[in-house]
Amino acid sequence: MVSPPSSPLIPTLILLLSLPILFFFLAPRFLPPRQISISLPDELDDLSLFHKVIAMDSANFSRRHTRLPAAKSRLSSTLRRPKIAFLFLTNSDIHFAPIWERFFANVTRKQYNIYIHADPFVKISPLTGVFKDKLIPSKRTQRSSPTLISAERRLLATAMLDDPSNAFFALISQHCIPLHSFNYFYNFLFDLGRLSRDLEFSSYIEILDNEPTLWDRYNARGNNVMLPEVHFDDFRVGSQFFVLTRKHALMVIKDRKLWRKFKLPCLNVHSCYPEEHYFPTMLSMQDPNRCSHYTLTRVNWTESVDGHPHTYYPPEVSPELIHTLRESNSSYSYMFARKFSPDCLNLLMQMAESIIFKD
Ligand SMILES: *[C@@H]1O[C@H](CO)[C@@H](O)[C@H](O)[C@H]1NC(C)=O
Ligand SMILES: *[C@@H]1O[C@H](CO)[C@@H](O)[C@H](O)[C@H]1NC(C)=O
Ligand SMILES: *[C@@H]1O[C@H](CO)[C@@H](O)[C@H](O)[C@H]1NC(C)=O
Ligand SMILES: *[C@@H]1O[C@H](CO)[C@@H](O)[C@H](O)[C@H]1NC(C)=O
Repeated sequence: MVSPPSSPLIPTLILLLSLPILFFFLAPRFLPPRQISISLPDELDDLSLFHKVIAMDSANFSRRHTRLPAAKSRLSSTLRRPKIAFLFLTNSDIHFAPIWERFFANVTRKQYNIYIHADPFVKISPLTGVFKDKLIPSKRTQRSSPTLISAERRLLATAMLDDPSNAFFALISQHCIPLHSFNYFYNFLFDLGRLSRDLEFSSYIEILDNEPTLWDRYNARGNNVMLPEVHFDDFRVGSQFFVLTRKHALMVIKDRKLWRKFKLPCLNVHSCYPEEHYFPTMLSMQDPNRCSHYTLTRVNWTESVDGHPHTYYPPEVSPELIHTLRESNSSYSYMFARKFSPDCLNLLMQMAESIIFKD
């Protein structure tokens, strides 16, 4: 016997079958975004890049140190003009490219290099001017995931390998703007006074141990999973935006031990910002005295929402704001600031020469 077509079973079945489809469309609105994981091939690509850097650097290191006393070698490399590598990490257009064009406008290529890591899953406008052909082989990135650490290590390694004259590595995002001229920044980093006294350069990286949320962040990958490599006493937090010396960049590239832990996926994504912990924790464990513990990139955390800092919009942008953002509690000025909304560009361009690049 055939059941009548109007059986209540059919609509029920249809409803049941369509549930997974409905869930598929609605779930992203209710669940936190799924974390992308780092695939083995991606991991191997990075390792082979890192091995090249380590091989090159150790070859050069032994040559340097068998022939020249350290001080003389450092001075002679200064005479050859060391460079700053600007590492742009982005997942959108570089909104302030025109400001950066002016920042680099009168600077010889002998003083800097640019490298861009852009999420290949996002379509960005063609890169022009100083940014043309500066894209490095990039992989997918996602907020609150170790993919940001990978991207930063990839930038460091690519820059180290590309040019042995890269002596400092400054991480910049598409929301960052410069607060001073290139020359001001360059003379600050390559301080001839330090050099003549044969003092080693320091990295400018924020390293804090007094954050109220630190315990949650330490356990964001599961309870005790960071042990034995990273004890809670060693765990640090700091701004993602660093300026590292070549020596510290190499430490980062050589690291396997901490990466094994920091690459673990976050179970609690709301307390997990791996890129704000990996670099400060590692450098604090390995060479704390050669780190400023301060960042050079100003950010405003007042009234932050969902882990995002205050974003500046055009009504707030003024010469006074630039002067205020430069002021720091340390002995030196801030060099960069974030986050600015893209529509601040015109106002910033109007005060580029008269205010921002005046020194
Ligand atoms: C380091 O080694 C590479 C490859 O051997 C070479 O091209 C480069 O000039 C060397 N750099 C220094 C600073 O000696
Ligand atoms: C670059 O040089 C030009 C011409 O000398 C000058 O007008 C301009 O202010 C300089 N720009 C910067 C950013 O230093
Ligand atoms: C920081 O952001 C708050 C709003 O969240 C604003 O009132 C304040 O002026 C900002 N501070 C600076 C120095 O820009
Ligand atoms: C300087 O320190 C004071 C006191 O801790 C703090 O209120 C202020 O926000 C700090 N200023 C900057 C620019 O970080």
